[in-house]
Amino acid sequence: MRTKVAIIGSGPSGLLLGQLLTNAGIDNVILDRVSREYILGRVRAGVLEEGTVGLIDRAGAGERMHREGLPHDGVSLAFDGRDHRIDLLGLSGKRVMVYGQTEVTHDLMDRRRQTGGLSIHDAEHVAPHDFDSGAPYVTYTKDGVAHRIDCDFIAGCDGFHGVSRRAVPDAALTTYERIYPFGWLGILADVPPVSHELIYANHPRGFALCSQRSASRSRYYIQCPLDENVADWSDDRFYDELRRRLPAEHAQAMVTGPSFEKSIAPLRSFVAEPMRFGRMFLVGDAAHIVPPTGAKGLNLAASDVHYLFAGLEEYYGDRSAAGIDAYSERALKRVWRAVRFSWSMTTMLHRFPDTGEFGQKIQEAELDYLVSSTAASTALAENYVGLPY
Ligand code: APR
Ligand code: PHB
Repeated sequence: MRTKVAIIGSGPSGLLLGQLLTNAGIDNVILDRVSREYILGRVRAGVLEEGTVGLIDRAGAGERMHREGLPHDGVSLAFDGRDHRIDLLGLSGKRVMVYGQTEVTHDLMDRRRQTGGLSIHDAEHVAPHDFDSGAPYVTYTKDGVAHRIDCDFIAGCDGFHGVSRRAVPDAALTTYERIYPFGWLGILADVPPVSHELIYANHPRGFALCSQRSASRSRYYIQCPLDENVADWSDDRFYDELRRRLPAEHAQAMVTGPSFEKSIAPLRSFVAEPMRFGRMFLVGDAAHIVPPTGAKGLNLAASDVHYLFAGLEEYYGDRSAAGIDAYSERALKRVWRAVRFSWSMTTMLHRFPDTGEFGQKIQEAELDYLVSSTAASTALAENYVGLPY
């Protein structure tokens, strides 16, 4: 088989890139090692920047998002027993859209099916080859039969554990990493959210986040030790701990109900540089991971896709390589800003092993300054709603 762009990975990065290419008449194939159903069973975050919303619209997959998604004009920071609202819209002129990543993926998959894009699922032993030459190709096995796709370019959209980044020689790659000494224990439950906006809470017992998927579905998280066992957390124990970390008004108002998903996620910052190796590009989680505190994971994947799609469109339309040549540098500039923001939110809001009483006071002073200074609140709002592309 031959295609222009072979895309490894059918997560948000691969699907968004594939759809933009398809819409522009640029032939592409998506390969994933797991099934559609498996991908749609993954629970991920759910805050979309305006730029991400715009790209999903451009892909032609935004209809349900606009119908069911919840535009949010603000978020709250809770600390020292009180809630402090950051007026995102007033301070930055932009809002965010609360719409689950699983739904984004679903809508993009539907759109791909409608427009006849080829996705090959349950592909085993997917491997990129000869991307440092003018004739790259991807091999895989499906139902015991070996296949080869010849292409102009390979897009490595296969997440943190994918093969694309691992296919790059160590000497060609520089990586930067920080692993945080805690995780997030999260639940999904069909109960109305405790507040109509998100609450990020700093508390001496640890961080907590009240998020949501709809007016009747809540997504709640609490910081927990990395070696915690999910089985030790009954719903009651989870809600009790969550309430202890929230201001009294929210703790009292919280409606509880059985969870239908409960899991622990580790927190990590990771960047691999560069993001281009000859005719292969790394996109999204394949190149970088951020802790979820800034809600930037999916949005960074989208901005990578924005830069790469622009470069490929220019390459096929104008026969200019300027855009693809600039991809890595452009994408990484924005990636590092989001890595910094996610790290600073994580540092300001979580209890670290060495936080102690002094560290707690410092965090509260930082938060107090942040919510009382228009300059500082504006900086947070600008970063939270997403820096320009
Ligand atoms: N071969 C083929 N496909 C693979 C391989 C492989 N060896 N390894 C991984 N994949 C697939 C996975 O099955 C997955 O469907 O690549 C896809 C990667 O998707 P994501 O991990 O969702 O990564 P990405 O599309 O970059 O999305 C970034 O999603 O993971 C979240 O927090 C992240 O919100 C961010 C966003
Ligand atoms: C979520 O809804 O899952 C969510 C929201 C905001 C975050 C992280 C996760 O910062």
